Amino acid sequence: MPRQILVTSALPYANGSIHLGHLVEYIQTDIWVRFQKMRGHDCRYMCADDTHGTAIMLRAEKENITPETLIGRVWDEHTRDFAGFHIGFDHYYTTHSEENRKHASNIYLALRAAGLIEVKTIAQMYDPVKNLFLPDRFIKGECPKCGAADQYGDNCEACGATYSPTELKNPVSAVSGATPVHKDSEHYFFKLGDCEAFLRDWTTSGALQTEAANKMQEWFAQGLANWDISRDAPYFGFEIPDAPGKYFYVWLDAPIGYMASFDRYAADRGLDFDAWWGPDSKTELVHFIGKDILYFHALFWPAMLKFSGHRVPTAVHAHGFLTVNGQKMSKSRGTFITARSYLDARLNPEWLRYYFAAKLNGSMEDIDLNLDDFVARVNADLVGKFINIASRTAGFIHKQFDGKLAEGVANIELIGAFQAAADSIAAHYEARDYARALREIMALADRANQYVADEKPWELAKQPEAVYRLHEVCTVALNCFRLLALYLKPVLPGLAGQVETFLDVAPLTWDDAQTLFIRQRINPYTHLMTRIDPKAVDAMIEANKTTLEAAPPAPTRHAEAQTHAAQPAATAETIGIDDFAKVDLRIARIANAEHVEGADKLLRLTLDLGPLGTRQVFAGIKSAYAPEALVGRLTVMVANLAPRKMKFGMSEGMVLAASGEAPGLFILSPDSGAQPGMKVK
Ligand code: 2FM
Ligand code: ZN
Repeated sequence: MPRQILVTSALPYANGSIHLGHLVEYIQTDIWVRFQKMRGHDCRYMCADDTHGTAIMLRAEKENITPETLIGRVWDEHTRDFAGFHIGFDHYYTTHSEENRKHASNIYLALRAAGLIEVKTIAQMYDPVKNLFLPDRFIKGECPKCGAADQYGDNCEACGATYSPTELKNPVSAVSGATPVHKDSEHYFFKLGDCEAFLRDWTTSGALQTEAANKMQEWFAQGLANWDISRDAPYFGFEIPDAPGKYFYVWLDAPIGYMASFDRYAADRGLDFDAWWGPDSKTELVHFIGKDILYFHALFWPAMLKFSGHRVPTAVHAHGFLTVNGQKMSKSRGTFITARSYLDARLNPEWLRYYFAAKLNGSMEDIDLNLDDFVARVNADLVGKFINIASRTAGFIHKQFDGKLAEGVANIELIGAFQAAADSIAAHYEARDYARALREIMALADRANQYVADEKPWELAKQPEAVYRLHEVCTVALNCFRLLALYLKPVLPGLAGQVETFLDVAPLTWDDAQTLFIRQRINPYTHLMTRIDPKAVDAMIEANKTTLEAAPPAPTRHAEAQTHAAQPAATAETIGIDDFAKVDLRIARIANAEHVEGADKLLRLTLDLGPLGTRQVFAGIKSAYAPEALVGRLTVMVANLAPRKMKFGMSEGMVLAASGEAPGLFILSPDSGAQPGMKVK
């Protein structure tokens, strides 16, 4: 009986590129979906870009484009990258759609009717310059626990403490550099606490991995806090019904994006939406996610669905994070690898699919991409074992038998063993234990290679009396090859497609494992896959390395002065007084100056702007000043430069310094009497 299965992967944010960390999940899901389709099930894979929120709004503003233009451009990039890795979504939509607005509003109204929404006034950090409530990640300051500078509003990277942004010392807005103020506002809350009995029940329904179910018990023990689902204007998202100026928090409408993506897909195909999402739906709803967003998918989402009159998820499968060479992905080491850079390095996407599959076992453990092991393993397994079977036998079928396979197979025992493995390999795919599936498949490949090595078709080909035997041996080997391609097809759909063309067969389904492949004519063999060249991997790592020196624009005026030094006689383009007035120059006292570990040119300056608070600035003046010579000095800074994230932290302004063709670099100082914070005009 075919199953009906709706599968999703988490919706990637529309403000960044797809990287290999993301791809773990899309590859994991895609393999599962392809496997289900090969089994004859009615499986639909839905996804979309996650497009709302402050970060996307601010990025669009910075680029001087509308959020709609930004998310349209990112959608193009994401879909191109996913297609490059053979991720076969049935529909890839956007959360900024009318369907999503409709479902988000309806779900909210149903929750409100069920008494699960409450309104409360809360105080939050507000940027008085940008007139914007600041999300935690947009506030920086000193850690309230250990005092470390330059920490985000929700947790300290130095001591690991978590806290609320209102607890940060000397907070600054990362958007404008202003000191945030506390401001009251009405917020809308989803009363998660009232859903506890249902959630406790759902936790034991078998929808979660054991590790995830255990985590839920911890959350229940801590008590379920109500969830703040509203954000104040300005916000890029959907306005809440009957609440002008209030918007749904991005995480409220993100999972509803799964439903909206399906809604559009179903409408285009005449499918019955309620049969998939209605309360009595008999279909399976399976979510693949990273373990970091379990809270949203195992608590908020099932509760939202249940109490708004929808079906609940059948399964939530969480995976771990990706490390590269045993470490967290890092931009400076070049291991924060974008999907595009991988493809641009002319690395075959199926090599990565195979490697990730070989590491994924259905648990929440992290997986490591060890680049040396990647090269060795793919070359040994795919080229050395799998492709080798065809490349050593197919030529004889053409040279000696006019491209036609034998009438029967000589070693029914070997083929029988291959066929018998279909059920257990299928069980491993179903359980998302791809590592085990591939171990079993490669063990079969070893047996096929042993058979070819024992039978030595290249020797048989030299003996006219062995021609019949040669035909049978090559036919057996190609039967093994076909079955291996079939079993590998969820992982390697492109390669399997090439094999289908070479063998001249219809797209392979799981049931085809039980048929013999004889008497048929095949196409001439052309090489199906090359080995990985380690140099291409090195080039990709180099391309992903970002150094501060390379990052535009440079942190101090000095860099610009150097640029202009090439044309000493010319000044820059003439500007009007209004343009100049936009630059907020201020007197700053250098409260602290220190070396930055790993930086050749930079000093980290803490600048005191008097009533305007303090700023951290990275200045490229190390060649000219010892840090201790700077502490206490007054200088001039650009105070309204948008903060920029650099390799070593956030730089919140720019110090002015002069340089020219003659050697030397000179920071500017005011005459005595000037005070920190004074405007320079
Ligand atoms: O963590 C993230 O990248 C989110 N954009 C995932 C959203 S998943 C779902 F709920 F939409
Ligand atoms: Zn700390």
